[in-house]
Formats: sequence, C-alpha cells, structure tokens
Amino acid sequence: MSRIYNFSAGPAMLPEEVLKTAAAEMLDYHDSGMSVMEMSHRSRVYQGIIDEAEADLRKLIGIPENYKVLFMQGGATLGFAMIPMNFMVKGKIDLINTGVWTKKAIKDAKIFGEVNVVASGEENGFKKIPDVKSIKFDPEADYVYMCDNNTIYGSKFKEYPETGNVPLICDMSSCFLSEPIDVKKFGMIYAGAQKNVGPAGVTICIIRDDLLARTPRQPLPAYLDYRLHAENGSMYNTPPTYGIYICGLVFKWLLKEGGLAARKANNEKKAKILYDYLDSSKFFKPYVDKDSRSLMNVTFRTPSDELDAEFLEGAKKYRFTNLKGHRSTGGLRASLYNAMPIAGVEALVKYMKEFEEAHK
Ligand SMILES: Cc1ncc(COP(=O)(O)O)c(C=O)c1O
Repeated sequence: MSRIYNFSAGPAMLPEEVLKTAAAEMLDYHDSGMSVMEMSHRSRVYQGIIDEAEADLRKLIGIPENYKVLFMQGGATLGFAMIPMNFMVKGKIDLINTGVWTKKAIKDAKIFGEVNVVASGEENGFKKIPDVKSIKFDPEADYVYMCDNNTIYGSKFKEYPETGNVPLICDMSSCFLSEPIDVKKFGMIYAGAQKNVGPAGVTICIIRDDLLARTPRQPLPAYLDYRLHAENGSMYNTPPTYGIYICGLVFKWLLKEGGLAARKANNEKKAKILYDYLDSSKFFKPYVDKDSRSLMNVTFRTPSDELDAEFLEGAKKYRFTNLKGHRSTGGLRASLYNAMPIAGVEALVKYMKEFEEAHK
C-alpha cells in the first residue's frame, strides 16, 4: 500500500490513524458483531457513538451550553436555503460577499427576503477580504451572513465583524477545526465535514438557543426545520450514521494531538513553507493579498495556462494529486487541511523549485 499526497479542496485527506481504526473496526465494532454502517441509529451502541462524538466536539471547541450541536445531511448547500427559511423572520439580512459560496447563499436567501450586500471583494476578483471594521450593519437585520474561509480563491477572514445584537451566521466549511473557534461570537456556525472533519455527507451545525427560539413555528417542511433536529438530538430522521462515526474518530485524533491551538500552529507551519516559497519565487505567483491569505487553500499560478498544465502533468510523477485550481478561477491550488502532513508540503515545494529551475 502506498498513499499519495492528496491536495484536494474536498473531499480531502483524512488522518491515517483514523482510517486504520475504521478499517480495524469495520467488520465488528466493539463486539457488536456488526459494522457501524449496519447499525440501527436507534440502537444503544449507536447512541453511544453519536453522544461521544458530540461530547468530544464540545470539548475540542469549548462549545457553551446554550448552543445546540446538530449532525445533519445536505452539505453547506442546504444551509444556503435552510438558514433564511428558519431565521429570516423580519425579512432582511446583511451579507459580506467573498465569492462563489456567498453568491450561492445570496441567491437562495433572496427567495425568502431582502439581502443587503454590506461589503464585497468582487471588484478585486475576491483577492482580498473586506475590512470588517468599516462595515456598517443594519441593527434591524435578522442576521449577518459570512463565509470565513473561501475555498476557491484561498482567502480567509483574520477577524470577525462586530454585529452587536444581530446574530452572526458563518459558513466555516473549509476552516472548521483548523484553529480555535470563539463560538460566543456567533449565532450559528456550520460546516460540511469533507475538508477537515470527515467524509462528505455530514454537515455540522452549532446554533445558539435564542436564535433557534427566535424562529416562529412557521409551516416548514419537517427536514428543513432546525428546531426539529435540535429537539430530537439529530435523530429526527436517520442521520448519516457512518460519517458521524468517522467525524467522532477525527475529534478524538484532534484531542490526542493537542487540540485546536496545536492544530493551528501546525497549519501555520505548513502554510508558511508554501507561502514563503511563493513570495520568493520569480515564477510562481500567489493569488490572494498577503493580509487575506488562507492557511487551508493556497492558490497560485505559473506564468501561463500552458505551464500550469505542464506543472499538473509533472506532479503525477511525484504522486501529488488535485492541484488544479477551481474551474471558476483556473490556476493551481494546494489544499493543506488538518490531515496533510508537513512532509507533503515540503515535497510539493521541492517539486515547485525543480519546476521553476527547469523553466528559467
Ligand atoms: C466554503 C464552502 N461553503 C460551501 C460549500 C458547499 O458545500 P457542499 O458541497 O457540502 O454543499 C463548499 C464546498 O466546497 C465550501 O468550500
């Protein structure tokens, strides 16, 4: 067996230790005589798995008691619609536009009410995160919506806006659990698992009780009502059982490795290796402004599309995969999520140096 360095933006690499545990437990989970995949979600054994996953996640982040943790399906994309359906009560929200993922959120939210784009990075190609201190928010808005880490461009907020009594709702899909999170700043945080946390198919939502309570009991279809999921401990219907089990193993791995502060230090170290080289290179150019750079998704280019293609072809020889930029931006992108080892980034930079040297 030989694993490769997978720089995918998601689904992405998982810690090898987690995969080994899952493999060892595949046929017979803790003497239950069955795989977690085959278990009833209503069984005592499975209840233990989901309870432990939630308890470990709460410990890892330090989630206050007045927030519910939900394990759902539908990806962050379902959130684009479900959030306004549940929380757009008066009918208007403020939103910071930082690219494709907030534009999709705008499109869905507009079905339910008014969306005021209070700041946008669009005019500079989303290379820069807007200055949050200068944004004027509407105190009457239902909530303020943002996307923390912009997977496609490789940009990330360095500070969060102060929104007063208006709840801040944040899509953290591509930076969730990559660094400590001050949950109290948010009314709601949500993230698809398939980057830092587990397999695709699980969406984690952390929602403050008073935000949940704010929703009048409007006639929402059952699955689309966050409160039903909260009242039923993520068991209103069959949750993504196996995916939640894998997320639970990842939470245990993160706790064992020193928690989120240690993870941040490791992620900073990895990103620095690549950004330092990009800043010194006369050949490769980073895409995002220095003050807005993501630790998770590093975007860059060679001098031409043809050389980008040649770089990708050459990467195969080193067994690096998924270095192509998103189809909407082109160029190159290396995603360095939690499970990417430092050796993977060092190996990538070694190849980039060789490529630059060969094309001088
Ligand atoms: C920041 C961000 N938000 C939302 C999404 C959409 O997530 P999903 O495909 O899980 O619905 C993605 C997908 O990559 C993303 O990176």
